[in-house]
Formats: sequence, C-alpha cells, structure tokens
Amino acid sequence: MTENAAAGPRIEQLLADLTTKEKVGQLIQYFYFSIPAGAEGVDPFMARQPQAVEAALAEGSVGSLLFVTDPEQTNRLQKQAIEGSVHGIPLLFGFDVIHGLRTIFPVPIALAASWDADTIERAQAVAAKEARAVGIHWAFAPMVDIARDPRWGRIIEGAGEDPLLASVVAAAQVRGFQGSELGAPDHIVAGPKHFAGYGAALGGRDYDEVDLSDQEFWNTYLPPFKAAIDAGAGNIMSAYMDLNGVPASGNHWLLTEVLRDELGFEGFVVTDANAAKDLQTHHFAADAADAAVRALNAGVDMEMGVFQPAFETLVAAVDDGRVSAARLDEAVRRVLVVKEKLGLFEQPYVDVQESVRVLADTGHRDESQRAAERSAVLLRNEGVLLPLSAESLTKVAVLGPLAGSKRDTIGPWVFDFDLDETVTVVDGIRERLAGTASVTYEQGVAEPKRTFPSMFEAFGDSSPSAPADFDADAAFTRAVEAAADADVAVIVLGEQQDMIGENASRSDLSLPGDQQKLLEAAVATGTPIVLLLMNGRPLDVRWAAQNVPAILDIWYPGTRGGSAVAALLFGDAAPAGKLPFTWPRSVGQVPIHHAATRSHAPDAQGKRYWDEESTPLFPFGHGLTYTSFEYSEVRVDRDGSGVNDTVTVSVNVTNAGDRDGVEVAQLYLHQRFGTSSRPLRQLKAFRRVEVAAGATQTVTFEVTPEERRYWSAAPHDWVLDATVFDVWVGGSADADAHAEFTVAVDA
Ligand code: GLC
Repeated sequence: MTENAAAGPRIEQLLADLTTKEKVGQLIQYFYFSIPAGAEGVDPFMARQPQAVEAALAEGSVGSLLFVTDPEQTNRLQKQAIEGSVHGIPLLFGFDVIHGLRTIFPVPIALAASWDADTIERAQAVAAKEARAVGIHWAFAPMVDIARDPRWGRIIEGAGEDPLLASVVAAAQVRGFQGSELGAPDHIVAGPKHFAGYGAALGGRDYDEVDLSDQEFWNTYLPPFKAAIDAGAGNIMSAYMDLNGVPASGNHWLLTEVLRDELGFEGFVVTDANAAKDLQTHHFAADAADAAVRALNAGVDMEMGVFQPAFETLVAAVDDGRVSAARLDEAVRRVLVVKEKLGLFEQPYVDVQESVRVLADTGHRDESQRAAERSAVLLRNEGVLLPLSAESLTKVAVLGPLAGSKRDTIGPWVFDFDLDETVTVVDGIRERLAGTASVTYEQGVAEPKRTFPSMFEAFGDSSPSAPADFDADAAFTRAVEAAADADVAVIVLGEQQDMIGENASRSDLSLPGDQQKLLEAAVATGTPIVLLLMNGRPLDVRWAAQNVPAILDIWYPGTRGGSAVAALLFGDAAPAGKLPFTWPRSVGQVPIHHAATRSHAPDAQGKRYWDEESTPLFPFGHGLTYTSFEYSEVRVDRDGSGVNDTVTVSVNVTNAGDRDGVEVAQLYLHQRFGTSSRPLRQLKAFRRVEVAAGATQTVTFEVTPEERRYWSAAPHDWVLDATVFDVWVGGSADADAHAEFTVAVDA
C-alpha cells in the first residue's frame, strides 16, 4: 500500500486557494526538449515546445516536466515554475531512468536474469541517487509488463514471462528507487508501467490491441503490478493500448475498480505520452475535450502531454460539471502529496557541484560491473571450454560489430550516458589480457540495419553504421583469417540496441544481417569459438546450439560491460544468471512459455508441429555455471495440510564440481485436479544459494496458500483447491527432483 494517501494541512489549504486553472495545471506534465534554435531536421512542434512550456510555467499551469536531466536546467525551470505560481508550487521532474542515468546498468531483462533481488535493488538505488542529484524526482520505471512474445521489443524492459519472478523484480526495483519510504533522501518516486497488460500486444506488435482472458489478466499480467504497489510505489503509468476493446488510459474498470478498489493503490496515475489525447486515435473519444474528461473520470490524474495536451481543455469541463470539483481535487491532492513527501516545497533545487561529484562516483560503475557479472546467462559450455585460461593463450580473436560498439554495449533507453567511459567487449578482453596475449579485433560484417528507422533517431540516437565505402568482402576475409590464426575466437553477435525496445517489434528472431554467415565461417576454421550474445530477446540460435561449444548471453551489459564479460570469460567471476523467459527454437513457436497446462494427447505435447519440436531450445530458468549442481531428497512437511496452511518443501543441493558456485534453486508446482486446469509447471519459489565445492546445502521453501490461490474462469473468482500437488525443484523449468503433497479441505 502506498503511504502517500494522507494530505496535510498545507495541501488542503492549497486546494482551497487554487483556481480551477491552477489545479488543472498541476495535472499536466509536458515534455521539455531544450533544442538549440534552428536545430537541423527538428520537427516544428518540437522546436516550438520550449516556448510553449515556458509560457505555461509563467502562468503557474505546469505540474511536471520530463526529459530534463541537466541540473542547471532543472533549477532554472523550477525557479520559473515557483515564481510563476501564485502559491509557489514546485515542479515534479520525471524521466525514463530505466537502467541507470549516467552509470548505465545492464538492461532490465538482464537484471531480471540475475534472479537476485539485492543486486536489482542496489542497481536502482544508484540510478535513483544519480537522478535525484540532477533534480529528477520520479522514474518511469520499473516496467512490469509480462512478456511472452519475444517479437515484442519491450520484452527487454521487463522481467520476462513469469509473474512470480516479475513480482520479485518489481518490488526490488521499487525499493531501490524509493528507499525505505517515499521521499527518502537520494531516492525518487517509482512509477511502475504500463498499466496493464501491454506486453500481450497482438502479434507482438508494440502499441497494438490486447485481448486478455480474465484468468490471464488476474493470474499472469496483474501480479507484478500488485507487488510494486505493495512495495509502496508512488505512481503508476497507464498504457497506450486497448485492453479488451477499452483503451487502458480511458478504462474506469482498470484504473479505478482494479487499481484503486482491488489493489488499493493511493498514489497518482500518469498517462503514457499523449495517451489521454490519443483516446481520439482509438476512435474512443470524440475530441480532445471528450478525451480529457473520460481519462480523468476513468482514473487518470495527470496527462503526460507531448504538445497541446488534452488536459488543457479541462477548465471548461469542471465549469460545466463534466468533471466534478471533487474529482479534480482528488487528482490534484494526489500530485501535491507526492511533491510534499519529496520535500520539494522546502528544497526544490539541487546543488550542481554536488551533482557532478555524484555522477562521477566510480563506485557506481563498480556496481554496474557487479550487476553485469550476475546477469549473464551461460547457455552452453560443451567440453567445459569456459572459463578460458588466460595464461595458456597467446592469440585471441574478437569478432563481430557489436564487440567494439560502445553505443550498443549500453543498450536502449539511455540518454545521459558517457560513451567515452563505456567499456566494450573488445576493450575488456584487451585490458584483461594486457601483456599476456595479443588480441585482434575484426568486425567482419557490416552492422545490420533496421528496415524502418527507430523512433529514437529523432533524438539523434542510433547504433553505429558501416561507412559507405565499407569493404564487406575484405572485412569478412580478415575476420575469418583472424579466427583461423587464433587460439580461441570470441564472437559477439545479436541485435543492435535500436532493434529492440519501444517501437522495435520484429517479425523474426534470426541474427540480423550477415552475422550467421560470419559465425559459420569462424566455426569452420576449427578454432574453438565462444559465442557471446548481445540481445534483449531470445534469438534463433538453433545452429549455434548444435555447433558452438560455448554460448554466454551477456545482454547489453552497461557501462562496464566489457570488464564484466572479461571477468566471466577468464573465470575471475562465474556466470550464475538464469533465463527469465523460455527460449524458442524459432519464431514459429511463439508464443511459448513454461506454464502451459496439460492437454489432449499429452505424450505428444513436445511434437505439436509436424515440422519442428514444440519444446523450447532452452527452458525458462535455464543457466549453467562453472560447476554443476545436483538436487536430491525433495521432502514435504505437513503432507495433508489444510487449504489455508503453508507447506514447507526442502531439497538438498549438492555442488558436484571442484569450484564454489552459485545456483538459483527453483520450485515448480502443479495441481493434479481442481476448479481449473492448472499449468504443468509453474514457478512458485526460488532461492539464490552459494554452495562450496563438494558441499551439500538444504534449501527450504514455503509454499503459501497465496501461492496456491488463483483466479478461475469457472466461478469467475479466486479459488484455493483441496487437491494433490506435484512439486519439482531444480535449476530450470525442466527440474526433475520430485515430491508430492496433499492439501485437504480441513486437514
Ligand atoms: C514512451 C513509453 C514510456 C515512457 C514515456 C516517456 O512512449 O511508452 O514507457 O516512459 O513514453 O518517455
């Protein structure tokens, strides 16, 4: 439950004093792009935006701004707002602090792959500290949308396919951003998004409609939002798309009956960019005024406006009663309460010198490297090629355009980074092998490019491209020769950072461009190959999974990505990440996930297509390390428990190798009968454990009634069945250490 419900006397007095126009102003957030006058190729509206915003500031008609990250700028605009408002009300500055501000952390799907709440919390606490130092008060994060279709580019921004993992990650991010309470020093408001169901876009096409069954909504897509709200999130962002035919940002059932009445959210709701005005685009609202009224009355409190927001029409709607004074005050109160909680009435400005120190803190970069080392997922390690022995190498080849690309190493959704301090994979390997082995870097192929441009190109941000005179044949030859001449070749393949993220859905999962050709030629040289994947979605690596001995998913590893990768390659650190999604063999299997129910002809469930297996290439929760673990003696206490009892499950985890290691032990549950058919395997608990070489550790899980409860389409309600459960514990959704237990109605 959020803490920002109660408003003190200052807020109530303001509500009594503010005019309707001033109140409406508090509900409008504007983009503020400080664009140099006459900037080349800038859309006219964007060029006019700063003037329009500054005029509104002078009238005290702005509640919040986004896209301001320079502390001198935030101070200047804050001063304008306070002096422009008769009541001296400060601005709330929001921004997309998704995986770091100046220090860039691994992308969110990578952080989720650590399955390590502590690491995730620490990462977002650093991001919050840097953001607050420059005058940003609020992050449009965490993105908690469940994603089960990897064609959807925003899979990279969330925590994958599973509601339990996504809930743990969401709560950890909220704690990291907000600290112990809303308004804590060096912390900012967390704004989970996009409420709700956005990740189920038809065909994986970003922004497109979502049709969700009740059971999918309540059992799969909503739980991470509940976890974020229960962790105290101060804001929620409403989504762009239609949910079952009603746009999320004009959906009273979603924004009031579910968000307020069911989940008890008491913070404020902001729309996604332009999503109130956009209700006209959905052919839902008749005009901007209708859009504003219906968004506010549905439960939106603030509109994130791109240009001439619909909420500018609200004064008339209040005057003629289409919006009640009570509803207006309720929205304004929620916004002002957050400003008061953050202490902005007392201290609205930041210390610019202090912000320089905070942003330069190398301890933040160390945190980023630590997170990158914990996020990598070792998919394959045939013949234990990894870790490499640095001492035994004299020549190492590093191949692929992504290996040397600073911009791609830090991934999408970053704006305030310092590219010069970004460590690429080739930088990291060179640094690690300095003085002991020669490192040859050849990109080998031209950077593959999108067919349609990225939305971020308008901001001048895009991945590198090969020069017009790039000699593809010569580059390819040099790369193959370098591989042939080396003791080992490390090849970095994947998608450029602008091929994934918002407005970056894809109809295919293959390695773009000529990367596969480069991989096959490198393997054909006979040199041992280590494949590093730089990605945010599962890619079609069927060939590599058969022909490349070592495959390590490094994601977009952030500012110190190359240093983390080198530490992992040479054994200074060991990968311990686990997949947060099911990895399909090909796009034809999509959607695919681990929590499928049992159906007709169950023995053929792995052969539903006649042309391809219907099992995944790698299962949800999969990830290897530099030792091996064995699971035994799964035991249940309190067999025959009552429906309202917690069942304790224990398992022995043995490190069967000769190196200490970390394992994420996962518990999967299945009920054999009951009110609904339930998934054969559903993640219901996990624990990240360190086990010394040769040692055995007992890991204990509690399976609570809450974890066994689910929404059923039979009674159209929540149920808790008395039934028999199978429980499996292991290192992925393919876990096979098994036990069973009975839950009786009134044991
Ligand atoms: C974007 C995204 C949202 C982001 C917002 C502000 O369109 O959908 O996630 O926070 O606009 O940049």
